[in-house]
Amino acid sequence: MSIVSRLLNPPTEPVPSFTVVPMRRRHVKSILAIEERVHPKPWSAGVFNSEIDLARRDERHYVVGVRDSEVVAYGGLMFAVDEAHVTNIAVAPEFQRRGYACRLLLDLANVAIERGFTALTLEVRVSNTAAQAMYRRFGFAPAGVRQRYYENTEDALVMWAHDIDSPEYRARLNAIEGVTS
Ligand SMILES: CC(C)(COP(=O)(O)OP(=O)(O)OC[C@H]1O[C@@H](n2cnc3c(N)ncnc32)[C@H](O)[C@@H]1OP(=O)(O)O)[C@@H](O)C(=O)NCCC(=O)NCCS
Repeated sequence: MSIVSRLLNPPTEPVPSFTVVPMRRRHVKSILAIEERVHPKPWSAGVFNSEIDLARRDERHYVVGVRDSEVVAYGGLMFAVDEAHVTNIAVAPEFQRRGYACRLLLDLANVAIERGFTALTLEVRVSNTAAQAMYRRFGFAPAGVRQRYYENTEDALVMWAHDIDSPEYRARLNAIEGVTS
């Protein structure tokens, strides 16, 4: 290849693939390696395995984000009577700020809507302003505080997104999807 043609056609880096797939027991080892780095009180393998079992019975919904063939993110939902509860969501530190958590939350929100829920809720550490910013993008608003919820020390902010079955919420999800896909 000539110098001129190299300048005109510089080699391009392959774009890594990112897919969201159901969480399985085989993913738990990789998940724990992330969980232990990002959460002060990480879930154990037993908790993840039990949540995966509940997902098989349709009482939960758990997914992992796979970048090329590596698990780099995960998250899930618990189904309550009237609302779906985001139980956990995390991205490996080296892969944060690439829109991966948004891609997972889009999946979780879409599943909650498909199953007929009208609201999403979650708890988040009051100090976790990064996660709170992401949840606000998804229409979550603070609704209360659970005092000393974490380690009997840090308060939890309780956040809700209502009317997730509305056209306005669909437009919000479409806008986020347009930016992250
Ligand atoms: C919160 C977390 C899941 C976000 O994952 P991520 O893949 O980096 O998030 P995204 O790239 O999809 O970003 C989504 C939005 O979240 C917000 N956000 C994410 N990280 C942020 C940060 N460090 N500071 C401020 N805002 C942040 C921004 O609004 C961002 O949108 P933008 O990049 O267009 O500004 C990730 O930081 C994480 O795993 N943290 C540790 C575990 C955790 O706290 N989980 C939540 C428990 S409730």
